[in-house]
Amino acid sequence: MRIAVIGSGNVGSGLATVLSKAGFEVIIGARDVAKTTDIAKGLGPNISVATVKEAADKVRILFLAVPYAEAASALVQAGDLKDKVIVDVTNPLRPDSMGLTLGHTTSAAEEIQKRVPGARVVKAFNTVFAQIYTAGPRIHGTAVPVFIAGDDEAATREVDRIAAAAGFAPIIVGALELARYLEPLAGLNIVLGYGRGWGTAIAPMWLK
Ligand SMILES: NC(=O)c1ccc[n+]([C@@H]2O[C@H](COP(=O)([O-])OP(=O)(O)OC[C@H]3O[C@@H](n4cnc5c(N)ncnc54)[C@H](OP(=O)(O)O)[C@@H]3O)[C@@H](O)[C@H]2O)c1
Repeated sequence: MRIAVIGSGNVGSGLATVLSKAGFEVIIGARDVAKTTDIAKGLGPNISVATVKEAADKVRILFLAVPYAEAASALVQAGDLKDKVIVDVTNPLRPDSMGLTLGHTTSAAEEIQKRVPGARVVKAFNTVFAQIYTAGPRIHGTAVPVFIAGDDEAATREVDRIAAAAGFAPIIVGALELARYLEPLAGLNIVLGYGRGWGTAIAPMWLK
């Protein structure tokens, strides 16, 4: 199965690595293809680089791994996204990363869905620190949870299967609106990881 990852920064590179390791064919969508081709060389097998539009055109499912403030621009570059599954990993962070720029009555995921009403947006992976992808999706032997929220059941289940295939512990939480909880959860993770000095080899999980 072929998956596009828009962005090749900390998260985009990490996602490309972990997805390619799991046997997926990955196309990184980049605004600077030459620079990103260099980055992709060291990431793993079955990873190619294309423009954002070319990458989006070739897949049914794409991960959006750009800063939230750049999401609208990346979506415009992607072109027609009708029926495509967009996995939104963004967090709408303040410049100091210690708070969110929106919440309570909406979320980054819902705002992205409004911009591409014909696409099927799924919030996922936003609570996973980039380091987890390269270190392997386990902490002390426990698979790192991936919380998944979406309004389209088939799309949500597809992201669940991808996360499981890549070695994570997926948890479908419900409708896209629940991204209003998942984004602050990522915020808390950042406060603990960076603000409290716990580092980035941490991840939120649930006991039941
Ligand atoms: N870092 C983490 O641990 C972490 C964890 C969970 C979620 N997140 C979220 O994941 C997203 C990415 O974070 P990151 O740490 O990977 O950021 P990053 O290292 O700054 O990388 C951002 C990537 O987005 C690309 N980009 C920026 N604007 C773009 C545009 N208009 N069109 C196309 N591509 C564009 C950049 O491309 P260029 O190389 O061309 O600049 C770069 O490849 C953010 O929303 C963040 O909140 C991060």
